[in-house]
Amino acid sequence: MASEHPHAHEPGARAPVPATGAVERPATPAGFDPSRPRDRARDPAGWRFDDEVRAALATVIAARRDIRRFRPDPVPDTLLERLLEAAHRAPSVGLMQPWRLIVVRSLDTRRAVRRIAQRERLRQAERFAGRGDEFLDQKIEGIVEAPVGICVCCDNGEPGSEVLGRGTIPETAQLSVACAIQNLWLTARAEGLGVGWVSFYRYEDLRTLLGIPERVDPVAWLCVGWPDERPPRPGLEAAGWGKRLPLETVVMRERWDSERGEAARAALRQTRPLPSRPSSQPLRSRPSPQSRPAPSLRDTQQPPAPAAVATRDVSLPDSEAQTALRDVLDELVKPPGGLGRLEELALRWTGITGAPPPERLRLGVLVACGDHGHVRHGTTLFEQRVSTEVAAAAARGETAVGALAAALDHELLVADVGLALPTPPGVVAAKVRAGTRDMTAAPALTDAEVAQAVEHGRELAQRLVARGCSALALGEIGIGNTATSAAMAALALRVGVDAVVGRGAAMDAPGLERKRRAVAAAVERHRAAARDPRALLAAVAGLEHCALCGALFAAAEARVPVLLDGFSVGVAALVACAIEPAVWEVAIASHRSAEPGHALVLDELGLEPLLELRLRAGEGAGAVLAARLVEAAGAAIARMATFAGAGVTRSLAARRAARAEAGDEQALRAAAEDEE
Ligand SMILES: Cc1cc2nc3c(=O)[nH]c(=O)nc-3n(C[C@H](O)[C@H](O)[C@H](O)COP(=O)(O)O)c2cc1C
Repeated sequence: MASEHPHAHEPGARAPVPATGAVERPATPAGFDPSRPRDRARDPAGWRFDDEVRAALATVIAARRDIRRFRPDPVPDTLLERLLEAAHRAPSVGLMQPWRLIVVRSLDTRRAVRRIAQRERLRQAERFAGRGDEFLDQKIEGIVEAPVGICVCCDNGEPGSEVLGRGTIPETAQLSVACAIQNLWLTARAEGLGVGWVSFYRYEDLRTLLGIPERVDPVAWLCVGWPDERPPRPGLEAAGWGKRLPLETVVMRERWDSERGEAARAALRQTRPLPSRPSSQPLRSRPSPQSRPAPSLRDTQQPPAPAAVATRDVSLPDSEAQTALRDVLDELVKPPGGLGRLEELALRWTGITGAPPPERLRLGVLVACGDHGHVRHGTTLFEQRVSTEVAAAAARGETAVGALAAALDHELLVADVGLALPTPPGVVAAKVRAGTRDMTAAPALTDAEVAQAVEHGRELAQRLVARGCSALALGEIGIGNTATSAAMAALALRVGVDAVVGRGAAMDAPGLERKRRAVAAAVERHRAAARDPRALLAAVAGLEHCALCGALFAAAEARVPVLLDGFSVGVAALVACAIEPAVWEVAIASHRSAEPGHALVLDELGLEPLLELRLRAGEGAGAVLAARLVEAAGAAIARMATFAGAGVTRSLAARRAARAEAGDEQALRAAAEDEE
């Protein structure tokens, strides 16, 4: 190739030296190495930066942290550009620059990512026998709290295309992306910005959400924002989960050192729990990417276009109030995070309402009632009239939810949205039709019936809010509705019927078999409805499920927290979230019922139940019980003293020890000043 270089000459030929004597060396063109062999030989370390820069680099590397808590303050664009620029300066195999950085500011998208991550977080926790709780405490709220999310992708290139240097190790593309992330992370730390790396998700889920093509792997979700914590050491180390190994444990000389290798493994075993089952074994059988069945509700991460069931504007979570509450929680006389999940509950409540939970709650308890056409296949041992009788008894305060609501002074509203018999006294008449059609033979409802039931549910919830209820508890009554819920769950979750059919109110073995058969027939018949949540409602839902969806929409619009009861309410919430993701923001799982499908539904929702009392009463009793915990959280926050107020000194010795261990010189000096 012809060169334009000033010293171009024939290959192999030495450039002619003029006879007159020395030739002045021209300046090195830009972009080429200007150093001279003589200089390099004289001072091999001459390329280093001055002391200050090197010290700064070491400081930033040592002080880089994974951040979980963020403040809501915005991240200036110029700063963000600096981070992106740093990422883009990373090394890459064959200079392929495989990183693609999707900057996400949309709250809706970040909420959808959080839900995806919550779901996986709960599933992964199951693998860590006994230490799952600590694992769960590693929060992923940062996805929503941090004002910016960056989905860092790796474009693996066209299949079969050659990349210089990648021939033997295909992962080098991903490794290059990791280098980009580290550049970004360090730059953020230098700027005082926090970065939290989240990897609790499946590639397919983020691909679907963000429209990422199949050849591209979304390798990391980075939460970027101003940190609301300044940890001197890794959070997982502070939580006792793991510890940085001494350098000599991980460094080997000349060859693999088996003894050191084993020592490192042993040291890690001591600090880190081993998975309770092999990590290759799925928690429940999942389809491989190749045999992936038709996508279902799980893939409906984005709010679909409005159709029969319209939703209205929903407002944002109150992150400033949440940050303020967290500051309060940090000051209360207790170890950090000492109130455990009550703190999470209070923060969630505050995110919804803008204020911590009250000491006394006035709940609006909405019990939606309906009957089910499939009961003619023996899907329940009770007669259909029992739904109406129980609804009447609930309204009289004689059933579990009726008694609890009366005893705790909540507002109870039992509504007939689809009972087969006439609406009994004391029950609100909002009947759409007398029971659903048999889902095994036809769609259970028409689109118009679904829309009407949703609207009734919305209005009933609004009525309770208008009466001054500051939160809702949702329940249902409907003989046979666990079979309905099982069909909804099987379609929404794409799981087998056996995983979601349970004993319901009470069922014998032959009855259980009948129930499974009916649910399987309905699932088979309506498989196509799995993809669209509204179609799913029409295909197999009960009228009470539709009304509960409406109540959830109303709650999201009004920023009112909702305590979900058992399996049927959970399934309704799953569908409601698929229609309007903001519903998730107001939903609180009160308990995990004895129905097997409930745990799967809660996992999918990414909601951790507050109680586990093996309830199978339906009606909303569990939701009313959980309200007591909300009140307890509110009382603790309102009444507990702060360290300063109680005259309790935080142990300086403990603080100093922690800081010394973390090598945090600056903090040590601050602690010494405190002491003075
Ligand atoms: C590849 C990778 C994936 C990670 N995924 C997660 C994650 O899913 N959730 C999380 O809380 N932290 C995640 N982290 C953060 C680590 O837990 C954290 O970096 C580690 O505990 C060390 O703490 P430090 O970064 O503060 O030094 C991830 C880090 C890396 C490098």
